[in-house]
Amino acid sequence: MSFESNLDRLLVLDLVRVTEAAAVAAAKMVGRGDEKAADAEAVDAMRSALNKMDIQGRVVIGEGERDEAPMLFIGEEVGSGNGPKVDIALDPLEGTTIAAKAMQNSLAVIAISEEGQMLNAPDVYMDKIAVGPGYPEDVVDLDKSTDENIKSVADAKGCSVSNILVCVLDRPRHANLIKEVRDSGARVKLIGDGDVAGIIDTTNVETSVDIYMGSGGAPEGVLAAAALRCIGGQMQGRLTFRNDDERGRARKWGITDLDRKYSTMELASGDVIFAATGVTDGDFLRGVHQTPDGKGYSTESVVMRSKTGTVRWVKGDHKRGAKD
Ligand code: FBP
Repeated sequence: MSFESNLDRLLVLDLVRVTEAAAVAAAKMVGRGDEKAADAEAVDAMRSALNKMDIQGRVVIGEGERDEAPMLFIGEEVGSGNGPKVDIALDPLEGTTIAAKAMQNSLAVIAISEEGQMLNAPDVYMDKIAVGPGYPEDVVDLDKSTDENIKSVADAKGCSVSNILVCVLDRPRHANLIKEVRDSGARVKLIGDGDVAGIIDTTNVETSVDIYMGSGGAPEGVLAAAALRCIGGQMQGRLTFRNDDERGRARKWGITDLDRKYSTMELASGDVIFAATGVTDGDFLRGVHQTPDGKGYSTESVVMRSKTGTVRWVKGDHKRGAKD
């Protein structure tokens, strides 16, 4: 399946405007220690920008279910109502804690696809494993041991296991995983938050990250898969549930096989466009900064399309208070 026409080409720059707007709004709250306020600013700005786009958009991954999120809830319709029908996965502020603490790697993120092409992931955890481009298919597999996956990547890369760097969210639940990685001889890069950026880091040789492993948010898993569909790389994800309420959430979104292992393509299929703007500085994107004269601010974004694999890096200089 592909977008009906080349309309998606026209949406590319619009999408950057959407993530820029969210990032700039969130940036005002960076370092203020208030995660909710930072998120609220980003959500509000992203929604306004989305509503200026000529799309008939439906949020499939958003801020939560209708009763828990006032804006950008799952199922909310956004856009001008003209233009193509698209499904939207978004995270106006990925890494709320990072932003509140002015630490590295918070992003404003969005992905769009044709209707029905992205997994309607409930807000539960997902076990994830990901590598960047250039590896044979299935070089890693969630059903293999940590040791086997690391050896497989080292063999495919033609290097020793001791050279492999695995990115893992720094969480008590990962204590065993971290030990397994180190016991295998590989090294661990711990990140405090933000596994969308953590997974995208596997595609960037400058980060030296070879593999991403561990559990994080399922919605973030779909967003990361959308990015890998465009930039290259492989990912597998499997939902994990802590209780019946979480299982019920998955069933509500039509998921019947709760143990299913999803490939990158099953998480985000069809033609996908992914865009992100840095909120705080990171390996992937520079954050929002004031211009030296204090009259404006700069942004750094990326937008990519799966259809062509084109990755565009967009630097923006914005005048403070400018309206369009
Ligand atoms: P938020 O932006 O919602 O705070 O998510 C940050 C994040 O680190 C995600 O990148 C990750 O998928 C998830 O939280 C991990 O969840 P937890 O903090 O519960 O381990």
